[in-house]
Amino acid sequence: MQAKINGTNIHYVEGGNPAAPSVIFIHGFPFSSDIWKSQLKALGHNYHAVAYDFRGMGESALGDGQYTIEEHVDDLIAMLDFLEIDKAILVGLSMGGYIALRALERYPERFSALALCDTQSKADDNAGKLKRAAGAKAVKKDGAAAFAAGFVEAVFTPASIKNKVPAVDFIKDIISASDPLAIAGNLIAMAARTDTTEFLADIAVPTLVLVGEEDKLIPPAVARDMHTRIKGSELHLIPDAAHMSNLENPDEFNARLLEFLATVKG
Ligand code: MLT
Repeated sequence: MQAKINGTNIHYVEGGNPAAPSVIFIHGFPFSSDIWKSQLKALGHNYHAVAYDFRGMGESALGDGQYTIEEHVDDLIAMLDFLEIDKAILVGLSMGGYIALRALERYPERFSALALCDTQSKADDNAGKLKRAAGAKAVKKDGAAAFAAGFVEAVFTPASIKNKVPAVDFIKDIISASDPLAIAGNLIAMAARTDTTEFLADIAVPTLVLVGEEDKLIPPAVARDMHTRIKGSELHLIPDAAHMSNLENPDEFNARLLEFLATVKG
């Protein structure tokens, strides 16, 4: 489905029971709402599940190709308004978590719970910003398929690369189909994001922190640190998974998510 959000066509999928608590899934970079298929299925009819492609990614429009996390938050809130959702449970993976944390910081009244998956509150240091700049330059020159080839090596476990070929190819295909300008624009958005670490102590909604045991991009130590800063939060490490924990070990990921959701009032 498509929604006109802040002047741009945003693609989303909806499942479950519209009268049940709403769970909004925000994908990581540079993926699409397709990564949440197994989670939407697992939530079934007990929830109203929504996954959308943020600006430039998946089937959402490119817009002007220049993005900020702030604008992604504006879109998320406009999406909630469009779907007439007063309060939602947010699930964000990696860059989706950056958007989720900033959304909660700006609009705490719109959210009732939070799941932070393979993500972090820290902003990029100088080395990180330079890496983003090099990535933006490279993807504009070499294209999305070349970017995808390098990216999957960083986000899957070596075992997944060898044994979970359909999942790896699925992510490669999503990235390869992306507009290089959208990849570059979202790299710059991440480089320019604020640091939400101080805000973690103010989070007043139930929070689940999930991380792949072998995540090298945002390792478990980072998740542990967020968990210690967020009062009453729950932390689970997902075995046999790196950065794509929801795809590499969906059974464990979904079990932890469903247990958490059962404890939360929508
Ligand atoms: C993501 O998976 O969203 C990104 O890899 C996160 C990042 O590069 O910081």
